[in-house]
Formats: sequence, structure tokens, C-alpha cells
Amino acid sequence: MAKVVSQDVGAFSQHYPKIAAIVTAHSGGRDNAMAVAWHTSIAFNPPLYGISISPHRFTYQLIVDSKEFGVNFLPLDAAELIASVGGSKGQEGDKFQRFNIARDKPVKTAVPILKTAYAAYECKLVDDRSYGDHRWLVGEIVAVHWLKDAFTPEEILDLDKIHPTLYLGKEIYATTSRDTARTLDRKVYGKR
Ligand SMILES: Cc1cc2nc3c(=O)[nH]c(=O)nc-3n(C[C@H](O)[C@H](O)[C@H](O)COP(=O)(O)O)c2cc1C
Repeated sequence: MAKVVSQDVGAFSQHYPKIAAIVTAHSGGRDNAMAVAWHTSIAFNPPLYGISISPHRFTYQLIVDSKEFGVNFLPLDAAELIASVGGSKGQEGDKFQRFNIARDKPVKTAVPILKTAYAAYECKLVDDRSYGDHRWLVGEIVAVHWLKDAFTPEEILDLDKIHPTLYLGKEIYATTSRDTARTLDRKVYGKR
């Protein structure tokens, strides 16, 4: 297989699979949800999580107003919901009603937590910066919700029970499989 090298990076800048998630927000009596693929853990202490959101998203306005957001991780069988909230605008109506989205109660914020999420974070906004055409929002995680049965006693996602949703780009969703999981101890491998 031949590799291609190009300085036209815009044409090929989203090549690796990402975890698809749903960011939720609440402000002024409105709940909203949007799909995200650009997000990551940033720090353990304090526990910080970052999301990259266009300022044109209705969700962005709610987050700026309330200084809170939720990040919800869903299994592949909820991928239609991710595509639904990622393909509709909160300005045009209540997505929770329209897509019949069930929710759990938040404990430290007012953001909706999705019932179908196997894990979810409630975050308080601590930073909001502009990077190109997106905003980088950093939240301190103030509460975590997770489906206990979906994780092993070591708190590793149990791939026999949950198929996490990956987004490959171009509206394609996929998952990982249990038989590909390998334990490679970095202390052993770093010394080889
Ligand atoms: C799989 C997927 C991933 C997405 N990732 C992001 C993202 O990381 N950041 C972003 O700003 N928009 C992203 N979007 C687009 C928003 O979800 C979409 O514009 C949504 O309609 C915004 O809703 P809102 O206007 O109600 O906030 C993604 C869409 C999909 C389908």
C-alpha cells in the first residue's frame, strides 16, 4: 500500500476514527443536544474535559449563558440518535420532544443527562477560547454518571456489553470488537 503525502491538509484532515458523543446544555428553560466528534480528556487533577464547538451552534449559546455542559457517551445502537441531534438545530425546536429523548436527572448542574448513555459527565465551564472557526470549551467534570454493569471491576469498558460509537466521517458509524482488545503493559513494552 503506497502512502500519499500532501500539503493540501484541508482535503484530508479528518482521517482517523473518533468517538461520537452528545453534548447537552440547558439555559433559560431550554434543553438542547448536539453531536460532537471533536472532544477529549485534558487533565486528571482537576478533571478537565474539552469540546470543540462552532460558535454557530445553538448549544454554544446555551453553554455560554449557563456556563455548564454535559458530555454523553452512547453505544452504537444509539447512533441514530447521534445522527438525529447532529442533523437538526435547537433553534428550530425542542430536540428532546422531537426525538423522544429520555433523560436522567443531573446532580451538580442543570444539563440533561441521556438515559441511553453508558457514561456521562456534568461539566462546569472554566475556559472558552477561539481556535479558527471553532471554540475550544474546557469544562471541569463535577459529576459522573455511568452504567456500572457496562464496566469491569477495574472500570474498563466491557466490550462484551457495550459497543462504543466511533465516527469515521462522511456519516459512517462503527464500533470496536472484544476480540481486538489486547493488554500491552507500557512498563514491559517500554523496556524492550
Ligand atoms: C457525528 C457528528 C459529529 C459532529 N461533531 C461536531 C463537533 O465536534 N463540533 C461541532 O461544532 N459540530 C459537530 N457536529 C455538528 C453538530 O452536531 C450540528 O451542527 C448540530 O446540528 C448542532 O446543533 P445545535 O445547533 O442545536 O447546537 C457533528 C455532527 C455529527 C453528525
